[in-house]
Amino acid sequence: MRPLRKAVFPVAGLGTRFLPATKANPKEMLPVVDKPLIQYAAEEAEAAGAEALVFVTGRNKRSIPDHFDKAYELEAELAAAGKDGLLAVVQNILPPEVSCIYLRQAEALGLGHAVLCARPVVGDEAFAVILADDLIAGGDGGCTAQMARIYERHGCSVVAVEEVPPEDTGKYGIVETREGPDGELRVTSIVEKPRPEEAPSNLAVVGRYVLTPAIFDKLAHTGRGAGGEIQLTDAISALLEDEEVIAHPFAGRRYDCGSKLGYLQATVEYGLKHPELGRDFAAYLRQLSGGMDAWTTG
Ligand code: G1P
Repeated sequence: MRPLRKAVFPVAGLGTRFLPATKANPKEMLPVVDKPLIQYAAEEAEAAGAEALVFVTGRNKRSIPDHFDKAYELEAELAAAGKDGLLAVVQNILPPEVSCIYLRQAEALGLGHAVLCARPVVGDEAFAVILADDLIAGGDGGCTAQMARIYERHGCSVVAVEEVPPEDTGKYGIVETREGPDGELRVTSIVEKPRPEEAPSNLAVVGRYVLTPAIFDKLAHTGRGAGGEIQLTDAISALLEDEEVIAHPFAGRRYDCGSKLGYLQATVEYGLKHPELGRDFAAYLRQLSGGMDAWTTG
């Protein structure tokens, strides 16, 4: 099995849940402590062995290519000021062997359409899809690396899953599974954002996929689904007729940074783990929580 080499980042969404912060800035550039969400996603892809990062962008997304590009003026200023540590930070956003490719999704027709836009670049090989607003602090080299290993063993598509409260099924792709003889969960059905009373389970797909190239033909024949959009979930459902798909309950913790609460949780927990400021931040939070009632009941 050829190892995974490409990762696709659909980043053309409007980020309306974070307006006005996302009026002129993509939601993928929101920072968690000192790194934008898209950089955590790119690092996760790189840790999984990806050599080509394919960004499917839209309007107002110029800061994403800028972030991964060389910043000559900034580097010259940092070098002149002797700020070698910071210079290394901006020079090593990605290792030199990783290349970035940018495509424009002219119309926001949904996640499935965004993935289909990457077809000419991905070609006839398996690839990862990473939704940067699901930030995953993953064990075992990261969630995508865990999935890449499963793909290399089984040669089939893999979706990352976790249990969600039954009342939240309407926010996710939901899978039904059965355990295979090898202990891996096989997807038997998948449906996009079902109402709780119609959901086949409470096992939700989070924003990580490893897909075989057969998904592209399925996407090309997928009409508009939930929310009037071309849904990746519907194409995976069609793929199930021909191929196995594994559901991987990943090792790690996911933060839904597409929601304000999840974003704040990520900020607090990454702040606490941060090598430079974790200790001071923990002291601050302890002090704050002592007087928390004054804030919340105010
Ligand atoms: C997308 C997918 C959904 C998946 C979710 C994970 O939905 O369509 O199946 O469960 O990502 O974050 P979105 O969050 O873009 O509405």
